[in-house]
Amino acid sequence: MKLKNKTVIVTGAAQGLGYACALRFLQDGANVVMADVNAEKLAESVQDLIEFDGAVSSMVCDVTKRENLQALVGLAVSNYGNLDVMINNAGIAKVQDFLEISDDEYDAVMDVNLRGAFIGTQIAGKQMIAQGKGGVIINMSSINALVANPMLSTYAISKGGMNQLTNIAAVGLAPHNIRVCGIGPGTILTDMVADVIMTSPEARHNVLSRTPMERCGEPREIASVAAFLASDDASYMTGQTVYPDGGRMALHYSIPVKDE
Ligand SMILES: NC(=O)c1ccc[n+]([C@@H]2O[C@H](COP(=O)([O-])OP(=O)(O)OC[C@H]3O[C@@H](n4cnc5c(N)ncnc54)[C@H](O)[C@@H]3O)[C@@H](O)[C@H]2O)c1
Repeated sequence: MKLKNKTVIVTGAAQGLGYACALRFLQDGANVVMADVNAEKLAESVQDLIEFDGAVSSMVCDVTKRENLQALVGLAVSNYGNLDVMINNAGIAKVQDFLEISDDEYDAVMDVNLRGAFIGTQIAGKQMIAQGKGGVIINMSSINALVANPMLSTYAISKGGMNQLTNIAAVGLAPHNIRVCGIGPGTILTDMVADVIMTSPEARHNVLSRTPMERCGEPREIASVAAFLASDDASYMTGQTVYPDGGRMALHYSIPVKDE
């Protein structure tokens, strides 16, 4: 129960990695405010966590809107007294050749993935400074922050920017005892991956030929990294993005893929 009585906000918590983080933090004793733009899915997911009763709150929240994120932090403080951990997890991805992307399509991805995390970091940082007892901010990045796939360009550019957001906020907030870290997952089995990445046998082959552990990750394997970074076990870590990726970033060429 390393996170007992901590108050945690998770954006994009209705499903996937955000939901897995919410569940893990609740299991570790935290109070969790789950936020998502998808009201229906959010309500279903909160219902699934009914056993945690008063430790779970939720708010429909679009991270591209500053007033939504301000209200979200306000809810955490009014329900639980303060904010200890902010997880900027909400994200979207679009597969499209970079030469074909319109200005509106570019803005849509950057608004959610980068601007949303920027505003979330700003508002959470101000709240933690006002409380005067430190805090942790975690940004959900991606291996795509470092590797180049021209079919995922807006996504990759947004995550590259997010890594620099993590660095800048870590340095700016260190005097206030607020740590800022990133997580850069490889390919993890969520709806985003099913809908956008693993869409054909060829796509599966592409992913697994670049994954030494010969499998995709599970959402709980990312949530456990978030729980570590949020805990005092990571008390000397800030300004770093860590990559739970099954060995992808270490691999130079590719490996043989076994049939299913
Ligand atoms: N799954 C992976 O393999 C993987 C790998 C690397 C990074 N990531 C990152 O992890 C995060 C979560 O990904 P996932 O795979 O769980 O995706 P997902 O699509 O399953 O879940 C994303 C959630 O974010 C919500 N969301 C989208 N736009 C929003 C907005 N404007 N405001 C609030 N919520 C919004 C969606 O409704 C959804 O519930 C994303 O930032 C993604 O880029 C995922």
